[in-house]
Amino acid sequence: MDAKLTDRFGRVHDYLRISVTDRCNLRCVYCMPEEGMEFEPDESIMSFDEIAAVVRVLARHGVNKLRLTGGEPLVRKNLEQLVAMLSAIPGIEDIALTTNGIYLASRAERLRAAGVTRVNISLDSLRPDRFALVTRGGDIRKVLASVEESVRVGFDPIKLNVVLMKGINDDEIDDFLQMTRERKLTVRFIEYMPIGHDDDGWRSRYLPLSAVLERCAVNGWTVESAEAVYGNGPSRNYRIAGAPGTFGLIHPVSDHFCETCNRLRLTADGNIKPCLYWTDEFNVRKAIGDDDAIERLFFRALDIKPENHEMAQALMKAEQSHTPTVRRMSQIGG
Ligand code: GTP
Ligand code: 5AD
Ligand code: SF4
Repeated sequence: MDAKLTDRFGRVHDYLRISVTDRCNLRCVYCMPEEGMEFEPDESIMSFDEIAAVVRVLARHGVNKLRLTGGEPLVRKNLEQLVAMLSAIPGIEDIALTTNGIYLASRAERLRAAGVTRVNISLDSLRPDRFALVTRGGDIRKVLASVEESVRVGFDPIKLNVVLMKGINDDEIDDFLQMTRERKLTVRFIEYMPIGHDDDGWRSRYLPLSAVLERCAVNGWTVESAEAVYGNGPSRNYRIAGAPGTFGLIHPVSDHFCETCNRLRLTADGNIKPCLYWTDEFNVRKAIGDDDAIERLFFRALDIKPENHEMAQALMKAEQSHTPTVRRMSQIGG
């Protein structure tokens, strides 16, 4: 194998998150403004061949895990074809998908056959009317059908992402925890991150995840630390004693997991982002066709990767209301 993708702090990068589109069929309140967003023109978006060319180079340098994100990755036509191309690349062992689940049910089987091994599905409320409010029109029945279909086709693990928002879904913590007591699913509660359009709304909606452990205590549920669900990065994992499922807490705001960060990101328009919160980017599209040039760009990106994003400190200071990134969550893919 060629040299590993190591940065100045000794972190080895073996995981690439690929945003395949900045488009989405929903407009979740924490992610997009009500009026929607201006999307990248089609010609700015990386083709499947371009994405595969980049992954081929990175796989030679030890990248073995991929995650496809968006926007909503399933609005990209023939995503199954991209998955098949990527899973055929020597060295790629694992391909995950982060989706809102609206289009997943009908495509789960084909995605599984093409090589997707695991899925993360956003599900911020279990109540149909509330789900529609948070997603601005999403039909929860489609998402629940996708969860069932994901179980049936054998994605493992299946993680459900719940962004906790004060006054919106914090009264459903018990219901989500109850799901893990009944089924082998992983529910991940995510702290609301101030990275969308909603910088001020963030302040009033932010809820520390200690609220989840408090609910366990109130219900008299014993909580054990759970083995890491395979592929887990940012989440701390727990199990209610005797439960088939687990839950995770993702604290991007109040905690740092930068120390062990093994992630690189590629935006839909071909920019390498060495850190979720950093503005510096390197466009890889012009290097396609020259593997050495692709490789050099990734090493340059790693050279400026910050030790930690310092977002937490910066944001906790009242005078700061903006993160150092200029991109929205839907343009980076989380
Ligand atoms: P796995 O752990 O591989 O299952 O995935 P994940 O938790 O990284 O993926 P997912 O796409 O489901 O993202 C869940 C949440 O974690 C989202 O809100 C992401 O923005 C957040 N997240 C993912 N990666 C990072 C990261 O590098 N830094 C921070 N601060 N947050 C991240
Ligand atoms: N804060 C926390 N999580 C977010 N996501 C999108 N925007 C935010 C935000 N502002 C989550 C989605 C999805 C994942 C990729 O990122 O819920 O599950
Ligand atoms: Fe779409 Fe995901 Fe953003 Fe919701 S969070 S609007 S599903 S990209």
